[in-house]
Amino acid sequence: MPITTCVFDAYGTLFDVAAAARQAAGEPDFVAIRDNWQALAENWRQKQLQYTWLRAVTGAHDDFWQVTQDGLDWALEKAGHGGDAALRERLLALYWELACYPEVPAVLQKLKSQGMNTAILSNGSPKMLAGAVNSAGIGALLDDTLSVESVGVFKPDARVYDLVAKRFGCGKAEVLFVSSNGWDAACATGYGFGCVWVNRAGDPVDRLPWRPTHELPDLTGIPALAGL
Ligand code: LAC
Repeated sequence: MPITTCVFDAYGTLFDVAAAARQAAGEPDFVAIRDNWQALAENWRQKQLQYTWLRAVTGAHDDFWQVTQDGLDWALEKAGHGGDAALRERLLALYWELACYPEVPAVLQKLKSQGMNTAILSNGSPKMLAGAVNSAGIGALLDDTLSVESVGVFKPDARVYDLVAKRFGCGKAEVLFVSSNGWDAACATGYGFGCVWVNRAGDPVDRLPWRPTHELPDLTGIPALAGL
């Protein structure tokens, strides 16, 4: 069945989540993280994601902004910067204006110009996603931004993936779902989407019951995989 709908994970896939710590580390006020910003960014991301999974399985949902702050607080304390309120505030502010990866606008433009439905499907809260989409200037290239907040549970709960068919009136087999998160791409493949795992870091594949349908090093090959 031809692909009609390309759906993208947001954080780590369209938007570079390491950009906040990288940028702060280059600013004169935050020399304290110049040498350890990568570990800080990695711990922040890992804790943020772990908290989404734990909240999903226990039913203790709160939105992604809360989880993002909780993950950062753990990572700052781990790095020895637990009391640095200015650093915390700066990193959180930067999270609202993350850069998108350089190939993103051209890829979305190509999909849109060929009549493909395009959307984000993300754990992010609607406000966070609106901030990132606006600062990246890609709003006109997306038909919609779908947030887990409309179902009140994080990925990979199937109710999240159900949002795509509800929005576009399409079958699962018409969807190409794109995520840099191996677990997201694997679980969405198990759900029934065709999936692309964007493996920028060359990581090993996740050992889960499902393997992503495709693997790419970045997003440039997406239009071809969508049949364009
Ligand atoms: C998202 C996270 C998983 O955007 O990156 O949903």
